Amino acid sequence: MSTEAQKRVRTRHFAQAKLNGHPITGLTSYDFLTAQIFDEAGIDFLLVGDSAANVVFGYDSTVSVTVDELLPLVRGVVRGARRALVVADLPFGSYENNPDQALDTAIRFMKEAGAHAVKLEGGVRVEEHIARIVGAGVPVMAHIGFTPQSEHGLGGHVVQGRGNDADNVMNDARAIERAGAFAVIVEMVPREVAARIAAELTIPVIGIGAGNGVDGQILVWTDLAGLGSGRVPKFVKEYAQLRDTLSAAVTAWAADVVTRTVPDDEHSFTD
Ligand code: KIV
Repeated sequence: MSTEAQKRVRTRHFAQAKLNGHPITGLTSYDFLTAQIFDEAGIDFLLVGDSAANVVFGYDSTVSVTVDELLPLVRGVVRGARRALVVADLPFGSYENNPDQALDTAIRFMKEAGAHAVKLEGGVRVEEHIARIVGAGVPVMAHIGFTPQSEHGLGGHVVQGRGNDADNVMNDARAIERAGAFAVIVEMVPREVAARIAAELTIPVIGIGAGNGVDGQILVWTDLAGLGSGRVPKFVKEYAQLRDTLSAAVTAWAADVVTRTVPDDEHSFTD
């Protein structure tokens, strides 16, 4: 996606990118430093995802993380991002009750953290919630297919939209567009189904585990950088092995400390 010389990415740029056939790039970010790096690399949007539950807080699932835990992360990412649009994820339990609850939580992320948009999971069941938030002037990115907050209801991390279930995913996508979302993330669905959604919708479809026939891609940054400790999902291509690199660096430093090799003269102050 191109924007006028370093201007902030806006939701209208998402619409233009879809019209022009320019793929949109998104990564998760949970802190100031990675937000700066990804922003300088030209990533179009940064999602402060509830995957912070796993990556930052070490919880087993995204279900546990709270609004109060995510707010400070969003603040850091907003400070680091000069161009990228920053999207705050509404965590489980902070929006499902009704559209009023959804709007209240969205407002917290906009006012208290400076987010530029919010994301929530679900299709038909959150159509009114999305409409209410959008109606208050807050851009909404939706998220359908495999939705991690519902992992227990969905029976684990399983591909959605296979066989007859494709109609359900398609209906979710239509509901989201009707409700006024500016984009939708489609996670872990067969690439043919995702491509059909992208062809039918006028809003951009951002894929994660949804093949290459969509309007953009997002990944959890620690997955693509090889920083995580768990299983790498099938849809992730690793572009680095940061876990090994970082481990080697700290191991070397600790060895130098133990042998009193550091700090050496070059790294010490003198009178
Ligand atoms: O929280 C997150 O990281 C997400 C991505 C998987 C899209 O929702």
